[in-house]
Amino acid sequence: MGFAERLGAAAAETDAVLKTVLDPMRSDGRSPAPLVDACDYALLGGGKRFRPFLAMECARLCGGPADAAAAVGAAFECLHAYSLVHDDLPAMDDDDLRRGRPTVHKAYDEATAILVGDGLQSLAFEIITAPPVPAEAAGPLARLLAREAGLAGMVGGQYRDLNALGLDADGVRLMQAMKTGALIRGACEAGAIVAGASADVRARLSRFGALLGEAFQLADDLLDLEGTAEETGKRVGKDAAEGKATIPQLLGIPAARQRLGETVAAAAAELAPFGEAAETLREACRFVAERRS
Ligand code: IPE
Ligand code: IPE
Ligand code: MG
Ligand code: MG
Ligand code: MG
Repeated sequence: MGFAERLGAAAAETDAVLKTVLDPMRSDGRSPAPLVDACDYALLGGGKRFRPFLAMECARLCGGPADAAAAVGAAFECLHAYSLVHDDLPAMDDDDLRRGRPTVHKAYDEATAILVGDGLQSLAFEIITAPPVPAEAAGPLARLLAREAGLAGMVGGQYRDLNALGLDADGVRLMQAMKTGALIRGACEAGAIVAGASADVRARLSRFGALLGEAFQLADDLLDLEGTAEETGKRVGKDAAEGKATIPQLLGIPAARQRLGETVAAAAAELAPFGEAAETLREACRFVAERRS
């Protein structure tokens, strides 16, 4: 299987796990059905499932169990989807479209969107601490999720983004390592943890994920400047119009493209000791460098 097939398979497995968790909530007598529907809308309406793919692929590389890796991937997708729902809110990026459809606060309302994000965050921890995730991995994984999603991770990065006026390139890099890099890096490390990998391998996949995460946000910011609305489902140039601090804004598009290439190459270099077995992850690096959506 090549990268595209594995990404598609990871997406299908993630969706299956998410459905298995969400569907029983509709009739548990407690979870409000409209809120479950809104979570379903936020989670299951598209998306590349790149973080689940990374968790599953890193686990596979380390010989980990596929069903537990799929659960880990689904937990990261819950955190990611929650971050997107809140990112789009009027108080944050104020976006009307996500994944080519109305954002959750447009399709439902703002209060529902806030609660969807809160609910998805809890759901991530419910998934990561239940079978088929091995009991001995649940504690370390829950700690990892909490750290990567929290003040020193995604949430702290989002705060830095909202208060980014006057940041230099190093400041932007830290903000991006946190708001986007933390969940991508975390997904890679979580794949190693669920597979019971050695500390060395875990650290290597963590470095790989950090570099890939940096590249991923660089590509996202370039897409905002260079993409078409059709490709991204977003308003092109919105970051620039709002004076958002991004690497392409600070360095210019050619230098940012060059940096993207270098960062992706550095990520791929971390995979060298794995040889052929890491070919799909190498393809993932190329995908990040070349992606158009
Ligand atoms: C978008 O992430 C937000 C960023 C962190 C850059 P993705 O590009 O992975 O979004 P989906 O999940 O495929 O919609
Ligand atoms: C996304 O950054 C980061 C998180 C959601 C944590 P952006 O604000 O650049 O993402 P898009 O462009 O809205 O997808
Ligand atoms: Mg944002
Ligand atoms: Mg945004
Ligand atoms: Mg963006």
